Amino acid sequence: MGLQPEGSRGDVFRLLVVDDIPETAANVQKLLQIQRKYRVVGTATSGREALQKAEQLRPDVILLDINLQDMDGLQVAERIMRQWPTCIVMMSVQAEPEYFSQAMAIGARGYLVKPFTSERLVRTLDMATDNFLPPPVTVAGPAVRAGLRKIVAVYSPKGGAGTSVLAANLAIAIQQATQKSVVLVDANLQNGDTHVLLNINTNASIDDLREAGALDQEIINSTVIRHADSEIGLLRAPLAPESAEMFTSDTMRAILVELRDHFDYVVVDTGSSFSEATLTVLEEADIILGITTLEVTSIHRIANFFQIAERVGIEHSKIRLLCNRVEQYYGIKPNQVESQLRRRFLAQIPEDERLVVASTNRGVPFIVSQRGAPISRSIQELAKRVHEVLTTPPGGESQKRGGWGLFNS
Ligand SMILES: Nc1ncnc2c1ncn2[C@@H]1O[C@H](COP(=O)(O)OP(=O)(O)OP(=O)(O)O)[C@@H](O)[C@H]1O
Ligand SMILES: [Mg+2]
Repeated sequence: MGLQPEGSRGDVFRLLVVDDIPETAANVQKLLQIQRKYRVVGTATSGREALQKAEQLRPDVILLDINLQDMDGLQVAERIMRQWPTCIVMMSVQAEPEYFSQAMAIGARGYLVKPFTSERLVRTLDMATDNFLPPPVTVAGPAVRAGLRKIVAVYSPKGGAGTSVLAANLAIAIQQATQKSVVLVDANLQNGDTHVLLNINTNASIDDLREAGALDQEIINSTVIRHADSEIGLLRAPLAPESAEMFTSDTMRAILVELRDHFDYVVVDTGSSFSEATLTVLEEADIILGITTLEVTSIHRIANFFQIAERVGIEHSKIRLLCNRVEQYYGIKPNQVESQLRRRFLAQIPEDERLVVASTNRGVPFIVSQRGAPISRSIQELAKRVHEVLTTPPGGESQKRGGWGLFNS
């Protein structure tokens, strides 16, 4: 049995074509016009774009040029195949045997020397797909997908709700619970203060990644600063608030995609404003932890957020709610908010002004210094639930939390 085309009626293979010469994709499309088995569903003109599109589109087959301007095509292929099994056919103008053997060595299923005819293209694709047997866990299999779902956006549409405090403590709790690599990204580009919460004094910031353009291990290593009191890394917000405007959607997406490749979890302290950068974080996130407090203005904003999410195309199913600063004397109870929003809270974080303010002032997160405090326990529980949500296949979650369902439809 060969590769079964995914996301189709079982008879069409979805193709992604990657070449820095845009004409190649047009040419491939033309060459494939006379047949129905292969359909070009996406194109990319750089290695970085290829990584993005491969994840977004999950094509059945990727036609990938070896000589890309920003990255080595073979490395791009390796990175994609490390994440999930994909049928990759390399292309090159060079017919040298060492290129061919390198392509085969990394697991490519075919090699096309340019220029090629329609017959040659289809024959190579046929051979590549015919003898490609996906490993027992298939491309769409939950375990593979689970490994990829790891961007956690901590977000409140109202400022001051506790986004930074929760994001910092949650990042550490996830690291402690999973022993995986975790980076905390301060994407509150104008007013980021997560480095203050963690007492990290650095001039290296997310702005360095924006300016660098091409991102690699070296620049990530020099900008992500290790937190002394825990095992997480921090990418701090820009030093100059005005540089926030220079973060386009593409810049922000490229940074997140790169970080996702380097870390097991990317926890993002997301700014409240609906800027291009914030919306990109929310779009890219695998789970959005939307925070509300028990103040009516905060509840109102989070209710509106669902409508905004709808308008900008952010899936409701990935939004989970947190109730922060839970305190019985505030006149509104969490379960009343749940009824109003028709959603259960994934976690309720108690009000503990003394501990939160003292730990902020000391620069030591309470999850490190007061592990047994009720607020720390609630964050540890939250970390477990986040992990659970991210590793449960879509549709396979239990109904005991977040089970109102109205926004899931
Ligand atoms: N559970 C809590 N109990 C008591 N105080 C809290 C709690 N969570 C947050 N706070 C307090 O709320 C204030 C705002 O917290 P934080 O800076 O994390 O909010 P934010 O949403 O990141 O704000 P901004 O919009 O400015 O980025 C701080 O003074 C913090 O000490
Ligand atoms: Mg903040």
